[in-house]
Amino acid sequence: MVHTTELSFELSEDKTIVSSEVSYYQNPNLKNKSNFLFLNGVDLELISILINGVEPNYKLVKDGLELSDLSAEFVLKINTRIHPEKNTSLNGLYQSSGNFCTQCEAHGFRQITYYLDRPDVLSVFTTHIKADFKRYPVLLSNGNLIESKPGEVTWHDPSLKPCYLFALVAGDFAVLEDAYTTLSGNEVALKIYVEAHNIDKTQFAMDSLKRSFAWDEQRFGLEYDLDVYMIVAVDDFNMGAMENKGLNIFNSTYVLANPETATDKDFINVEAVIGHEYFHNWTGNRVTCQDWFQLSLKEGLTVFRDQEFTSDLHSRSIKRIEDVNGLRTFQFAEDAGPMKHPVRPESYIEMNNFYTFTVYEKGAEVIRMIHTFLGEDGFQKGMKLYFERHDGQAVTIDNFISAMNDANDFNFDVFMTWYSQPGTPEVEIKTNYNVDSQSYCVTIKQLGEHTYYLPIRYGLLNDQGGEVDQGVLVLSEREQSYHFNNLEHEPTPSWLRGFSAPIKLKSDLTLAQRIFLIENDTDSFSRWDNVQELWLLLILKPDQIDETSLFDALENILNNVQDPSLVCEMITLPSERFIHLRVDEIDVVEVKRKREAVIDQLINRFGSLFLNIYTNLNGDDDHELTPEAVGARSLKNICLYYLTKAGKFELAYDQFNNANCMSDRLSSFNALLSVNNPYKDKAIEKFFETYKKDVQVMDKWFSAQSLSPMMSVNGIRQLMKHELFSFNTPNRLRSVVGGFTQNFVQFHNQEGYELLTEVIIKLNGSNPQIGARLVSIYNHWKRYTPELRDLQKQQLESILAIDDLSNDIFEIVHSALK
Ligand code: TRP
Ligand code: ZN
Repeated sequence: MVHTTELSFELSEDKTIVSSEVSYYQNPNLKNKSNFLFLNGVDLELISILINGVEPNYKLVKDGLELSDLSAEFVLKINTRIHPEKNTSLNGLYQSSGNFCTQCEAHGFRQITYYLDRPDVLSVFTTHIKADFKRYPVLLSNGNLIESKPGEVTWHDPSLKPCYLFALVAGDFAVLEDAYTTLSGNEVALKIYVEAHNIDKTQFAMDSLKRSFAWDEQRFGLEYDLDVYMIVAVDDFNMGAMENKGLNIFNSTYVLANPETATDKDFINVEAVIGHEYFHNWTGNRVTCQDWFQLSLKEGLTVFRDQEFTSDLHSRSIKRIEDVNGLRTFQFAEDAGPMKHPVRPESYIEMNNFYTFTVYEKGAEVIRMIHTFLGEDGFQKGMKLYFERHDGQAVTIDNFISAMNDANDFNFDVFMTWYSQPGTPEVEIKTNYNVDSQSYCVTIKQLGEHTYYLPIRYGLLNDQGGEVDQGVLVLSEREQSYHFNNLEHEPTPSWLRGFSAPIKLKSDLTLAQRIFLIENDTDSFSRWDNVQELWLLLILKPDQIDETSLFDALENILNNVQDPSLVCEMITLPSERFIHLRVDEIDVVEVKRKREAVIDQLINRFGSLFLNIYTNLNGDDDHELTPEAVGARSLKNICLYYLTKAGKFELAYDQFNNANCMSDRLSSFNALLSVNNPYKDKAIEKFFETYKKDVQVMDKWFSAQSLSPMMSVNGIRQLMKHELFSFNTPNRLRSVVGGFTQNFVQFHNQEGYELLTEVIIKLNGSNPQIGARLVSIYNHWKRYTPELRDLQKQQLESILAIDDLSNDIFEIVHSALK
C-alpha cells in the first residue's frame, strides 16, 4: 500500500523526465506476508532506482519491475524517461496541439512511472512540474496550487486517490474563470482552460458546471470538496472526458459550444458530460472501485445521475426516448454479439475494451430499476448510507447493493442476476378478459434461462383513453399472474411505461390497441415505443399491417401538435442499424430499400402537412434551449428533411443560407446531402469556407459527407487526403471513417472493408484503443448475407495475422472469430 506519492516532471519536447518518490508499506491485514513487490510500468526508460539511497534488488520484466528483499516500509525513488512527444496512443502522458496532458484511466499511469497501478491503492499526491515558461505557461495538476513561480509549480491534492485519477496539464491556454459557493458556504474557483481561439465557446460549459454543482446539492445533497475545479479541453482524446480529481480533461467536443457552432443536441451533450464528470467526484472519486470488474459501480451510477440531471433540466420524456433508443440500438446489439458480458464482467484481456454500453448504459438501467423499486426517498437513503460507510474507500458493487438493501430493508438477492448474467432478458405478457366476472388476468413469463427481478410499469386505459389503473408489477419468478377486478370493459394495457426494465417484451397487444396507445397513452415513451413497433412492421412485414390506420392516427397527431419533440421522435423511423437487429439475415441493400419505401409513403401522405408545419414553425428564433424551442426546431427540421427528399431543394438551400443557429444550418446541410440535387456541392463548399477554422464544425462537415448516400469508398479515400483530415485525432477519424461504417450500403463491400482494415492495421501501431473500437464493426459478421459474411471473416483473419497485434484489437478479433 502507499502513504504518499510525490512526482516531479521535467517536461520538454525531446526529453521528459519523471521522478517519483513513493512511500510504500505492507498491508497490515495481509495473511501471507512477502518481501516482494511487482510494480506496473510500460514503455518506460529506467534511469535510476533507489531505496534509502541504495539500489534495491530489482528486475525489469514485461510490463513492469519486480522488487525483492523489501522491508515492511520503505521509500522508493525512481527516475524514468518517457516520450510524450511520440505518444500517439493518447494514453499516459501525451501531447495535443503541442500542449501536454494525461489520460490515466484505466492503465495509463503505468506509462508515466513504475507504480502500483490499481484502483484500490489510494494515496495523497504531491506534484512538481517544471517546463519552459514561454511555451508552457500554464502548469496544472490535481488539488491545490501550493507553490508557483514562472516555469515551476507544486500542486498538492489532500484527498486520497488511486493513480487512475491523477492528471497533469502543461501548455498555453486561455482560461474562463468563475466561482461557485457551495451550500455550506465554501467558495470554489471554477476554471475552464482552452486554446486561446476557443475562449468564445466556453460560457455554456461554465454555466453547465454551475448547474451541475447546484443539482448535485439539491437532488443528492452532495457538495464539492476542494477549493478549485478545473476543466481542460483538448482536441486529441480517445473518449468523451475524464473525471481526474479537481482537474477534468475533456475531449474539446464536450466543452466548446456556442449557438453559431453547436446544435441543440451538442449543447445538451456538453451539459450532460460536464455533469457526468462532475458527479463522478462523489460516485467514482471519493468512493472508487476496488478493481476494474466493478467499473459499473461508478459508471452505471454516474450515467444514471447524468441522465436524471438532463431529465430534470430538459424534457424528461424525450431524454428517456433517446436513451432507450440508444440502449436498444447499441447495448442490445452488444449483448447479442461476441463481446457480450455481464454489467460486472468476469474477465478481460484489455480493460479499455470494457468501457462499454453494457457497463455504462445497461449499468445505468440497473440503477434505474433500483430507483423504481425504492422510490426517490428510499434511493436517497441508500445513497446516504453508501457514502457514510464508504467515503474514502475503494469498494465493490456488492457494497453498494448492501447499502441500498440495509437502508431500505429490501432484499436484492434475486436482483443480482442483472449484474452477473450477460444478454437481454425476454419477457412475454398474455392477457385475458372475462366478461362475466369483469376481471382481467395478466400472465407474465420470463422466457430465458435466468430469472430476473424486474419492475413492469403499466397503465390500463378505457375506451375514452381514461386511465382506470396504473402502477408497477414486480416480477420475481419465472411466471406470475395478476388479476384486475371490477373492469366493465376490456382495457387497453400500456406495458413497460418509461421502459421500466431493459428487456425485450413480447405482448399480445393487437395492432388496433397499439394505434390506440399511439394517440391516447399518457406515457410518452409508450406512444413512441408503439409507433416504432408499427414502423418496423410496415418496413419489414408490410402485408401484416394496414398502413392507413397508422397514418390516420398520425394525421390526428400532426394536425394537433402538443409536444413537437415527441411528434418528431414519432415520425422518425427506426434507423437502418436498428432494423438490422430485427432481421434474420442482414441484407444492407434490402433494409435500406424497404425503409426508403416507407419514407416515400410518409411523404406521399403528409407532404403538404409537413410543409404547413414547417412554414408555421420556421419563424423568429433566438435559439433558446427550452424544451419548447428545442422541440419546435426538431419538428421543423424533420419536416424539412422529408420535404427535401420530396424534391423541395430550394427550401433546404434557403434555410441553409439564412439559418441563425447551427441546429438549423446543419439540419438543412444534412438534408441537402441526403439526396441528389443541384445545391449539394455548393452547400459543401460554402459550409467549408464558413467554418474551416472551427474544429467542432468541421467534424460535422466531414461526417455529413461520410454518411451521405452519394459517398463512395473512393470519396472517403479523398476525404482522408484532405488538408484538414488528421489520422491521429480520434474525433476526425470517427467523423470520416467511423461515419462511413454507418453508411451501410456504401460501406459494406470489398473495397469498403479493405479501407477499414487498412485503417485498423495502422491504428494497431498508433492508437490500439481506437483500433479496437473500429474493428468491432466486424463483430456481427455472421449475421450478414453470405457474400459479405465471408468477406468480413477474411478481414478478421487478416487482422489476426498481423505482427505485433495489440491486446486491444486481439481481444475483439479473437472473440469475433470464435
Ligand atoms: N471515466 C471516463 C468517464 O466515463 C471514461 C474515460 C475517459 C476513459 N477516458 C478514458 C476510459 C480512457 C478508458 C480510457 O467519464
Ligand atoms: Zn464516467
